[in-house]
Amino acid sequence: VSISLNKVELSVGESKFFKCTVIGEPVNLEWFNPQGERIVSSQRVALHTGEDSSRLTIYNAEVEDAGIYRCQATDAQGQTQEATMVLEMYQKLTFRNVRSPQEFRHDEAAEVVCDVIASPAPAVTWFYQKVEDRGVLPNNNLQIHKVTKADEGVYRCEARVEARGEIDFVDIEVVVNVPPVLSVLQQSFNATADYQESVTFTCITSGSPNPEVTWHRKGQQLERSDQYVLNTMEAGRSTLTIRNIIQGDGGDYTCRATNKAGAEERELFLKVFVQPHITQLRNVTAVEGSAAMIPCVAEGEPLPEISWRRASDGQSFADGDKSQDGRVDVRGRHGKSMLTISGVKLTDLGRFDCEALSRIGGHQKSMFLDIEYMPKFQTNQTIFYSWEGNPVNISCDVKSNPPATMLWRRERLTISAEGTANTRIHTTDGKSLLEVTPVSDRDFGRYNCTARNNIGVKYQEFILAQAGKC
Ligand SMILES: *[C@@H]1O[C@H](CO)[C@@H](O)[C@H](O)[C@H]1NC(C)=O
Ligand SMILES: *[C@@H]1O[C@H](CO)[C@@H](O)[C@H](O)[C@H]1NC(C)=O
Ligand SMILES: *[C@@H]1O[C@H](CO)[C@@H](O)[C@H](O)[C@H]1NC(C)=O
Ligand SMILES: *[C@@H]1O[C@H](CO)[C@@H](O)[C@H](O)[C@H]1NC(C)=O
Ligand SMILES: *[C@@H]1O[C@H](CO)[C@@H](O)[C@H](O)[C@H]1NC(C)=O
Repeated sequence: VSISLNKVELSVGESKFFKCTVIGEPVNLEWFNPQGERIVSSQRVALHTGEDSSRLTIYNAEVEDAGIYRCQATDAQGQTQEATMVLEMYQKLTFRNVRSPQEFRHDEAAEVVCDVIASPAPAVTWFYQKVEDRGVLPNNNLQIHKVTKADEGVYRCEARVEARGEIDFVDIEVVVNVPPVLSVLQQSFNATADYQESVTFTCITSGSPNPEVTWHRKGQQLERSDQYVLNTMEAGRSTLTIRNIIQGDGGDYTCRATNKAGAEERELFLKVFVQPHITQLRNVTAVEGSAAMIPCVAEGEPLPEISWRRASDGQSFADGDKSQDGRVDVRGRHGKSMLTISGVKLTDLGRFDCEALSRIGGHQKSMFLDIEYMPKFQTNQTIFYSWEGNPVNISCDVKSNPPATMLWRRERLTISAEGTANTRIHTTDGKSLLEVTPVSDRDFGRYNCTARNNIGVKYQEFILAQAGKC
């Protein structure tokens, strides 16, 4: 028995066949693997056996295939003869899945991976800018302690197998990412609402790759709009301009810089002042003798303090103030105030000014206090003289608010507005004239003038007397 080859070196992945030839008349021809097991033909290890020879083919050889193979022949008498063959396996230099570029974060301990295999084990050398680098780890990777931007570049991983004089290399680009660093020129801003004012926040960033800057408010990213103008300039400057500032724009804003190495945020603050503005002040109507309550409400930032001025005498009232007679008093702070007048008198009628004042400005508004009261008769003359056939005007003068309706009565009977045969009524504002032309004694006597408004009703008696003849 003989085998075509008796010592073979095979690289992983190669294929080869071996032929076993027998002289004589074998009845059986078999192969045994290095583990001593009889080889059965399979997909990777195939057998083709003829009368006096057998071919063993190993496809796509593996490291485990190494060892001593035997070819055994048996003759009719059961006697065996064999030949052996030694298969040695080796692994060629192979770079497995070596990525380039490889990225690291500034300041970390970087391990540049060079996954190379060979048998026998390869010797690996690293070069950076043509100089040998000493940071090789037992696993052939290159370690860079506290990697910095200056360590960026192309690194060469070179592997050798001394026994075979085999050598190969791969170039790996090392990229160092630097997390963003953020600074602001000014952290806090003031503005006044409703004056078409704008403010511009500026954030300055550095980092590698260049960070992307976004602006946020109340957890929402701000988009370019009429209200917000976003800008990015060179030298890492990013700005957010808030236009036409209103009160609602006040508060915290966040500038966020992001790149693949990390993110950083800074808060900026916008204080929005609002001019005082009186939102509630109305004309008030009070009934004489009752109490008048006059509220004045103002908005603003900061909230304004409210004071009052009585136009009739120019007297001012602030929170806690009382008039000399104690009837006028003012209570309330921080944008709300109540002017109370107790026992309202007709002389209280008139204008009152409410003034809201804060550090940044003031606003003034006026109101009128109107006073309603029962009719008041203005005339003293209650006796009128005449004689038969002589017309006379009985005059009833009334002051009232609101205006009163006036009626004339004679002995419980109302004299209609159209008058009667010998009476006529002339009514103007606050005055009613009853023109009587006496025709008989019966027309002399008492007449009643009644004045009525929604506050009350009053009457006054008049006497028409017969003038004595001289
Ligand atoms: C904003 O206004 C406050 C209060 O008036 C003041 O103390 C502060 O200095 C102002 N800040 C700026 C940036 O103008
Ligand atoms: C308040 O009263 C004044 C004077 O009577 C009047 O000119 C003004 O129009 C009134 N205002 C309102 C809101 O009724
Ligand atoms: C009414 O009479 C009183 C006292 O006699 C007098 O003082 C007053 O002026 C009179 N009023 C009118 C409107 O005539
Ligand atoms: C009474 O007053 C009315 C209206 O003013 C007038 O037209 C009339 O002439 C007066 N009569 C007398 C007698 O004065
Ligand atoms: C005038 O009116 C009052 C109240 O209604 C009544 O008491 C009085 O008798 C009346 N006088 C005349 C002359 O009608």
